Amino acid sequence: MGRALILAACLAAAPASAQDFTTLKGHGGPVMGIAVDTGGRVATASFDNSIGIWEGASPAWLEGHDAAVNVVKFRSDGFLVSGGDDFTVRVWPAGSVNRVLGEHRGKVTDISISTEAGLVASASWDGTIGLLPLDANWAWALYPPLDEPDPRFLKASGAVNAVGFHGPDVLYAATATGEVVRYDLARDAALPVARHGFGVNELIVTDDWIAYGAVDGGTRIIDHQGAEIADFTLDRRPILSMAYHGDTHQLAVGDGHGYIMMVDTADWRIVRDFRATREGPVWALAFSSDGTTIYAGGLDDVAFGWPVDTLDAYDPGISGQRSFLRAPEEMSNGERQFMRKCSICHALEGSASRKAGPSLHGLFGRPAGTVPGYRYSDTLRMSDIVWDETTVDALFDQGPDHYIPGSKMPMQVIAGKDDRADLIGFLKQATRENHENEE
Ligand code: HEC
Repeated sequence: MGRALILAACLAAAPASAQDFTTLKGHGGPVMGIAVDTGGRVATASFDNSIGIWEGASPAWLEGHDAAVNVVKFRSDGFLVSGGDDFTVRVWPAGSVNRVLGEHRGKVTDISISTEAGLVASASWDGTIGLLPLDANWAWALYPPLDEPDPRFLKASGAVNAVGFHGPDVLYAATATGEVVRYDLARDAALPVARHGFGVNELIVTDDWIAYGAVDGGTRIIDHQGAEIADFTLDRRPILSMAYHGDTHQLAVGDGHGYIMMVDTADWRIVRDFRATREGPVWALAFSSDGTTIYAGGLDDVAFGWPVDTLDAYDPGISGQRSFLRAPEEMSNGERQFMRKCSICHALEGSASRKAGPSLHGLFGRPAGTVPGYRYSDTLRMSDIVWDETTVDALFDQGPDHYIPGSKMPMQVIAGKDDRADLIGFLKQATRENHENEE
């Protein structure tokens, strides 16, 4: 490629959006749930028993659950409702002050709030759905006797993984037995609308359709009678998270392989498909209130906010067959390091790739912050670092937060000297100007 062409390609790769890639780092365990309120506050539920509230620089931590927190939702008054492995559903009026709204006999996996009905529905592995009063100012008598039916808990056919209100009177639930069941709360009736055969993990309920995602990778859209509208099943399993943004009609689907697929629900088309994590699942997804950012959480103890318009477009040629990644055993240690730790955010080629970080093409000998069109942080743009073996080594020996404080690059350290050396060896060769990428 000639210089002019490279430049044109780089400019085309510049993020068009004013949104920034964000990293929410601080949890001591995987992020299992995310919610965003209209004011832009992001809440994260973590395996470390805490909830993080991210607003500006440092998060506020809500401590109160006695085990992993699986789900958080914002109530319309801005209060949080959460559920966790300690079997409880809690509401958080201020800081770590919290009230138990209800208690299950198994872990709480999902929550849906209906302001109209004044109810919080909670899905639990105890095989029931809690119907808990939204603004009870007292803790209900917990533990109803097992042999006495309790109107506050609906019985399901098995462990309940997800719930979603449709208006104040209808509630859908997805079960580990593979059913999507419609509960008519006023008439006290339950009717399965889908029998999937494999456990259903996720549910999105809108006025016009219901989306569900299952353990076998099944990703389907049905109407309220159960008739199929669309099927987006790829060879990804299990489906672990879903989020929907109505105004921009985007449905996001996260899976066990670390992919996030985005469907345009106006014309039922897969628009984007990208690998958000190299290893491990996408447990949690939520859109920002304007729909321009998708927040994702998983194994990394970190949640990321991706500007939607920077994510890879869907390419059936790539997404259809997954063999484009070679088996890790066939890679050199340096390539493996890059694939696992850098390739989510950095391309090696100079050609257009809308990733969160600048292309590393031609890195060695390049002054920091100089890929044309990429929006660097001021810190990196103004720095006088020149990238070479020594400076790249220092970057990951000390971590970006120490080596270039204020950089947008997420904190990470590569502790092993040999791993750093192998990575640098791989990068030197793979980022060369005339390097043909043999993948
Ligand atoms: C989660 C995203 C992310 C990951 C993972 C990541 N980076 Fe980055 N990287 C960035 C961003 C964003 C920037 C731009 C930082 C800025 O502008 O302050 C950057 C900048 C850089 C730069 C400076 C580039 C320049 O043009 O000055 C280098 C070198 C770099 N990264 C190397 C790596 C390597 C090597 C890895 C893997 C070990 C890695 N990065 C992992 C997001 C990431």
